[in-house]
This record gives sequence, structure tokens and C-alpha cells, in this order.
Amino acid sequence: MKKISKAVFPVGGMGTRFLPATKSIPKELLPIIDKPLIQYAVEEAIDAGIETLIFITSASKHAISDHFDPMPDLRAKFVAENKHHLVEKLDTLPLEIQRVFIPQGQPLGLGHAVLQAKPLIEENEMFAVILADDFIQANNNPLRRLLTLAEQQGAATISVEAVEPERISSYGVIAPDAWHDDYAQVNAIIEKPAVVDAPSEYGVIGRYVLPYSVFAALNQVTMDQNNEIQLTDALKVLIDQSGLQAVKLLGQRFDCGSQDGFVMANLHVAMQDETLLRKIKDYLSKWE
Ligand code: UTP
Repeated sequence: MKKISKAVFPVGGMGTRFLPATKSIPKELLPIIDKPLIQYAVEEAIDAGIETLIFITSASKHAISDHFDPMPDLRAKFVAENKHHLVEKLDTLPLEIQRVFIPQGQPLGLGHAVLQAKPLIEENEMFAVILADDFIQANNNPLRRLLTLAEQQGAATISVEAVEPERISSYGVIAPDAWHDDYAQVNAIIEKPAVVDAPSEYGVIGRYVLPYSVFAALNQVTMDQNNEIQLTDALKVLIDQSGLQAVKLLGQRFDCGSQDGFVMANLHVAMQDETLLRKIKDYLSKWE
């Protein structure tokens, strides 16, 4: 099958859990220390072999496009001053990588955001979807594993993670068939189940590889009670039509769409730096 070369980044959400910061700053530009969430997501995609980035944006999110623009004047100044470590930080996107921005129009849900990418995807093509607010730290690139499996099997593939019982009711939870090492066919997805009704401990997280047929599935599903088109509803259609496989995430994920996840992600990255780790420990030692 054709190599998967395009990734969709839905960045059109309202980010209400981070108001007032998200009045003018898209949630995906919030930084983990000094690097925005969207930059991490884009680096993961490029490292996995993606060549075209498709951002589904809201009207107020020009800042994301600005972030990936070159800054020739400042760059020339840093080069002249021999400040190469700063030049590296300015180069946020390799020149050979294509980027496309599509306005979502209205924030009608993740499924609606993905639907906006349809004109850029060919009929026999599969593509990745990455939610930048699911921040992942892993030894091996999690998207690459998804792409390899999707290309081998030619089927829609999603990432799942073991979720603690007290949080399971916030997730789409899969009913897996037998596991083959790290992956399984998905028999069903139950949306936000009570712990007792959860068909497994595995919740769907923000990495997907989808076929073109997902657009027909998205057109077929009805809006939920919040007037949003949910991607999970389209995944359920795919299970019946052409199958869906899930891969267990090998790594640590932080839900940076929530305040606790965002704070933990910042701490996690900070504590990998010796100087910051020392200062954090020192600060925390003063707390009872
Ligand atoms: P969330 O469910 O986290 O929603 O979206 P949100 O609007 O960003 O945040 P809250 O809940 O109001 O705080 C998951 C992903 O889907 C994108 C978001 O940008 C985020 O990456 N999304 C969501 C869209 O692109 N468009 C939408 O209409 C909704």
C-alpha cells in the first residue's frame, strides 16, 4: 500500500479549560517549558516520515501559522552573532515539509474538524490524525508504530492506553479481540462507560491512522447532544465496514487539555533537566 505521508492536526477547539489564556493563544501553543505542544506533535510526525502537515484551525489561530514561519531577519542576526543554539530554536519546520491551513469555520467537534481535510486526501490514501494536546514521551516514536501497522494491514489503526479505573469514564474504551503482542482488532468502542461497564482498561488516545472512507462515515453520523460530530462515532462505523485495530501505547502520555495533565507534563520535562530538578526538589522540600 501507498506510504502514508500526510498528517492532520485538529487545532480548532475552543480550549475552554484554559480560559482566559486561550482567548488569544491557541491551546496547542501552550508550552511545555519552552516548546509549544504543537511543535512536539509536528516533530513526532516528521520523525515518523510525514511530509505534509494539514492544520484544521479556527479563525483566531493565526498564531500557529506564525509559529512555523521562518524569521529571516532575526535568524540572520543570530547567525552573525554566532548564536547557533538560538538559530536552531528558530528553525521550527524543515523547508521541505509542506504545510496547509484549513479553517474549520465553526467548532463543531473533532469529527467535524477531521472532515475538513477531505479535499486534501486522495481516495485510496490513508492519513494520520494527531491531537497535540495528548503529549507523549516515549523511547520509540508512537506514531511510527501506528503507521507501520496500518501500512502492513491496510486498516484503520488507533492508539490506546491503559487508564486507571477512576478515569475510565472520561474515555472511549475499546473491546479488543485477542492481543497479538501490542495490537488487537477492535470489536466495539464504548463511549465514557462506568467502570463496571468498561469492556477493557484501554482508552482511545490522540493518535489515529485513518482511511479515506472515514469521511463517508463522518458524513453518516449524527451530531451529539452538544451539536458536535464525534470522531469516535465514525470509528464505530469503520469497525463494522472495514475493521479497526488498536495499538497499546508504549510510553507516558499527559492529557494537556486538562490543567493537571498540563502541569504534570511540565514537571515531567523539567525534571529531566538536572538544574531544574534540583530547584524543584529544593522548592518542594519547603512544603509540608
Ligand atoms: P477537546 O475535546 O480537548 O476540546 O478537543 P477543546 O475545545 O480543544 O478544549 P475544551 O474541552 O474546550 O477545554 C480535542 C482536540 O480536537 C480539536 C482540539 O483543538 C483538540 O486538539 N478540536 C475540537 C477541533 O479541532 N475542533 C473542534 O471543533 C473541537
